Amino acid sequence: MAYKTFKLPEDLLMGSATAATHIEGGEQPHNWYRWSELGKIQDGSHSKVACDHINHIESDVKLLKAIQTETYRMGIEWSRIEPVEGQFSQEGIELYRKEIKLLLKNNIRPLVTLWHFSNPLWMEDDGGWINPKCVDRYLNYVRFVVDELGDLVTDWVTINEPNVYLFFGYFEGRWPPGMRGKVRKYLRGANHFAKAHLKAYDQIHEQLKAKGHKSEEIHVGVAHHLRIFDMFDKRHLTKMAAYVSNHLFQWMYLEAMTHARFVFPLKWHREFPKKNYCDFIGINYYSRDLVKGIYNPGTLFNELYVKKGKAVNDLGWEIYPKGLFRICKRVYKHYKIPIFITENGICDANDEQRAKFIYDHLKQLNKAIKKGIDIRRYYHWSTMDNFEWAEGVSARFGLYHNNYETQERTLRDSGKFYGEICKKKKVSRKMIKKYLLKREEVEA
Ligand code: BGC
Repeated sequence: MAYKTFKLPEDLLMGSATAATHIEGGEQPHNWYRWSELGKIQDGSHSKVACDHINHIESDVKLLKAIQTETYRMGIEWSRIEPVEGQFSQEGIELYRKEIKLLLKNNIRPLVTLWHFSNPLWMEDDGGWINPKCVDRYLNYVRFVVDELGDLVTDWVTINEPNVYLFFGYFEGRWPPGMRGKVRKYLRGANHFAKAHLKAYDQIHEQLKAKGHKSEEIHVGVAHHLRIFDMFDKRHLTKMAAYVSNHLFQWMYLEAMTHARFVFPLKWHREFPKKNYCDFIGINYYSRDLVKGIYNPGTLFNELYVKKGKAVNDLGWEIYPKGLFRICKRVYKHYKIPIFITENGICDANDEQRAKFIYDHLKQLNKAIKKGIDIRRYYHWSTMDNFEWAEGVSARFGLYHNNYETQERTLRDSGKFYGEICKKKKVSRKMIKKYLLKREEVEA
C-alpha cells in the first residue's frame, strides 16, 4: 500500500482520552465495582484494580507530556465525589484538582467528562437513569463539581454515550444492571439523559460565567457513540432495519441533546426553548455494522454483521476509516456545530494495526477538514490499556501498554508514532518509513 504524507492544521488540538472507571481503581461504591464482585467481567478482572491511576497521577501526567498531548479528556468518578446522596467529598474533589493543576502546569488542556457509564450505588439501587429523580441527582452532582473545578476547567463533556450504556444495560444485558429486552426502559433512560444534558448545559454555562469565564471560552457538549449502519442486502426489510438502528441508537439522541428536539419514540418535553445545547458535538467513532432486516421484534428487527474479508480489531469490529469522514460530514451538514472527535481507537494487544489505524483515520479527518467540516480536536482512545468494561483488562486499546501486575506503562510503537504526529502536526516520509512500512518490509 502506498502511504502519502499529509499535514494537519496547526490549530487542530491533539490529545488522548481515558475515563475515571477505566483507569482509577479503588474500592468505590459504584455499579462497576459491584458488577466485578458478581464475577460478571469476562476475564475475571476487577474495576478496583484497573490502572491504579489514583496512585499514579503524577507519573500518568508525565506520560501525556511524553507524547506531546495538547489536550486530555479525563473523567470524574461520581461515587468518589458523592458516595452517599447529598454528601459531597472534599477529599475526592481535591484529587481531581491536583490532577487538573498538573495538566495545566504542563500546558495540557483538560476536557472533563462528568458521567461515563458509572453510577454511585445509592443511585443505581434507586432505579439509576430510569428513575426520573436521576435528572436532579445528576444536576446536584454537576453543580458541586463545576463549583469546585470551574475556575480551572472550561471544557466539559456532560454525558458519554447514553445509547451504548442503555443498550448494554437494558437491552442486551451484558452491563449493569443486566436487563434484557427492556425497550420501554431504554426509551425512558434516553429521555432522562437528554433532559439531564439540556439542563446541565445551561447550568454549567451559568456557573462558569459567574466565575468570570467568557461565553466563547466555554465548551460544553455530549460525547456520542456514532457508528455506520450500512445495508447487508437490498431488501425492503433491511432498509427499514438500517433506518430503525440508526434512528433508535443514534439519531434520536443527537436530535434531543443538540436541539431539544424529542423525536418519536421519545416523549416530547416542551420546557426547553429552541436553541443549540452544545458548543461542540463529540463523536466517538470506532466501526461500522452491516444491518440485515429480520422478523424479530426482540432484536429490534435486525442482525449485525461485519463485511467479509475486512480488517477487524481484536474484538472483531470492522476497521473502517472512511466511516469517520462519513459521520463527520453527516453530523456537520445537519448541525453546523464544531466537532470534537472525543474518541477513536483500536483494540490491538500486539500493536500490529494501531499505527495504520491512526494514519488512516487521521487522513480521513484531514480530508473532512479540507472539505470545510469544522473539526477542532482529536482524542485518541486510549492513553493506556485499561479496564474495558465487560471485557475487562484483556482488551487493550492503549497507546501505552499496561502491565497490570506492576502497573508499569510502556509506550507502544504506535504511541511513538502518535506522539510524533501530535508534535509535528504531520505525517512525513520519515515517519511513514519508521512506523508504517517497517512491518510490511520485514514480512516481504
Ligand atoms: C466508550 C469507552 C470504551 C470504548 C471502546 C466507547 O464506546 O466510551 O468507554 O472503552 O468505546 O470500547
